[in-house]
Amino acid sequence: MAKTFDLSKWARPEMMALAPYTSARDTFTATEGEWTFLDANENPNATNVNRYPDPNQTALKKVIANLRNCNTNQLLLGNGSDEVLDLIFRAFCIPYQDEIVILPPTYGMYAVLANINSVGMIEVPLDNNFQLRTDNILSSITPKTKALFFCSPNNPSGNLFSNADIIRILEGFDGVVVIDEAYIDFTDTPSWSTALAQYPNLIVTQTLSKAYGLAGLRLGIAMASPEIISLLRSIKPPYNINALSQERAIVELSNTEKYTSQINEIIEERNRLKSALTAVSWVETIYPSDANFLLIRVDDAQKRYRELLAKNIVTRDRSTQENCNNCIRITVGTPQENDQLIRACKSISI
Ligand SMILES: Cc1ncc(COP(=O)(O)O)c(C=O)c1O
Repeated sequence: MAKTFDLSKWARPEMMALAPYTSARDTFTATEGEWTFLDANENPNATNVNRYPDPNQTALKKVIANLRNCNTNQLLLGNGSDEVLDLIFRAFCIPYQDEIVILPPTYGMYAVLANINSVGMIEVPLDNNFQLRTDNILSSITPKTKALFFCSPNNPSGNLFSNADIIRILEGFDGVVVIDEAYIDFTDTPSWSTALAQYPNLIVTQTLSKAYGLAGLRLGIAMASPEIISLLRSIKPPYNINALSQERAIVELSNTEKYTSQINEIIEERNRLKSALTAVSWVETIYPSDANFLLIRVDDAQKRYRELLAKNIVTRDRSTQENCNNCIRITVGTPQENDQLIRACKSISI
């Protein structure tokens, strides 16, 4: 049976009561007709970007809804998923009072956003296989806990969490569960957005920054119930997705062949990197990855990071993260970049 979720119990009352900023353009761009726009103090001289962009991103949302198999009223677009995540904090967490749960090692922005929004944070570390400790997570929840944030596939470990564990969390916590699927396109597993009808407390976030190769456009996605989306829409900055990003994303997203072949190449390259790194003497563990990066444990992360840097290769030392001592995260590059990395790793001695 589907869960019930009373939005008015979990959202900040002042956000529920908010009268959002409205622009006259909202009404009239959606209405057929030749309009003369003298409403928004824009420069009337056409430059292709002299007008404010569509605040509802209507055309782009249709394309994304089609691609992600959802309705447009289940979609919110943000200036990167970082903006979407920030809106979730602002919609649900009362500063200096509420708290969220995060599961380190995890994506660093959840903690940054908790701090920016003055929201408390409970950290429940993953186990040694970077999987969820569901009992610990559920017992960490207090009456102040409004939301739980995690990414699957996880950054920095690269693995997907077990479905059974995620279901336990969705069943066991009545507040907002945010599943950040920034890397979902590199896996064969379906998105948790297919479970939105069953779990109205679920928000799935995705991004065009990774598999779609559009990090520079800054386009993040939230998928949730129409009620949650409507709340997030009411608090978002009206023109948060610029006109050029909307236009370019529509063009890029129509090229599914390019997108599929790039994903396939990145996965093949990830596997090639993995087997090449297995032969490197100072690499101790290569963690299984369902993403476009590999987490490796080495003998001395600082030393290896610096040695790669000396060969002009920038990786990420993740040693300060929970359970990631001596771990380096390496993004899968182009075949040439990966060759360069493999050569560099082999030339660095023990
Ligand atoms: C798990 C996770 N979520 C979100 C993001 C940010 O995505 P965006 O570029 O859409 O802000 C990243 C970026 O590295 C990430 O690793």
